[in-house]
Amino acid sequence: MTGPIIARTRAELLAARGSSTVALVPTMGALHDGHVQLLKHARPLGDTLVASIFVNPTQFAPGEDFEDYPRTFDADLERCAEAGVDVVFAPAVPTMYPSGLVDTVTVDPGPIGTILEGASRPTHFRGVLTVVSKLFGLVRPDVAVFGEKDYQQLTLITQMARELAWGVEVVGCPTVREADGLAMSSRNRYLSDAERRTAAVLSAGLRAGVSAAADGADAVLAAAHAVIDPADVDLDYLVLTDPQLGPAVAGQEARLLVAARVGKPRLLDNIGLTLGGTPS
Ligand code: PAF
Repeated sequence: MTGPIIARTRAELLAARGSSTVALVPTMGALHDGHVQLLKHARPLGDTLVASIFVNPTQFAPGEDFEDYPRTFDADLERCAEAGVDVVFAPAVPTMYPSGLVDTVTVDPGPIGTILEGASRPTHFRGVLTVVSKLFGLVRPDVAVFGEKDYQQLTLITQMARELAWGVEVVGCPTVREADGLAMSSRNRYLSDAERRTAAVLSAGLRAGVSAAADGADAVLAAAHAVIDPADVDLDYLVLTDPQLGPAVAGQEARLLVAARVGKPRLLDNIGLTLGGTPS
């Protein structure tokens, strides 16, 4: 099996990209089976499949795990080769931030960037949207694929691509789960064995919420809270919204989202459901 081309600069990237249609999967590396599914999902969506690997400093606040974030480039390359990636774009920080990391142009995420994850991590989505916008400018993809596990991120990137007229189709890919339901994440490797077992209550709570969907929003939240015990996990939020993260509406599609710290890592999960009842 021949491996992907590795591009480090804009010129190398543009040479590798040529004039083909391009599907992009942005990542921060530490690739797991969830990423492989994103890559497989993206593979038929463009002539050239580009995976970017860049641990983006601006989406980590001081004191978060930027320094410790797992970096597994050689293993990532093997996973990319197996998934049919043509080009791995692995830029250095100055390629992404030619004017430095502060006092420069950034993308304002707007109101949705201030709720849920944005309330706990106020600078996070500015960093995410800024780097994704730079990746769109450098890679010039036709399609970009992101996981539904980071649902608020997917919502904001979709909004950014539309409102800033990037001409990039943003595609969401269903969350890939471990056998016990835990959503796959690069940060799961920080969990001890005991925490790893506890972490499964998050997806179990979401499933309990889905089971109660026919009985309406209050029943969904009550069922999920009954499973996600704050004695086990440090719960940040468990909320029910509409698919755009606005208020949930009876009789319509909805999203149940949870964030909790289990030991050191902060874990996110979410699930789609259809609420019973009729809109008021
Ligand atoms: O989801 C991630 O891995 C990152 O937030 C992303 C989209 C690659 C931006 O750095």
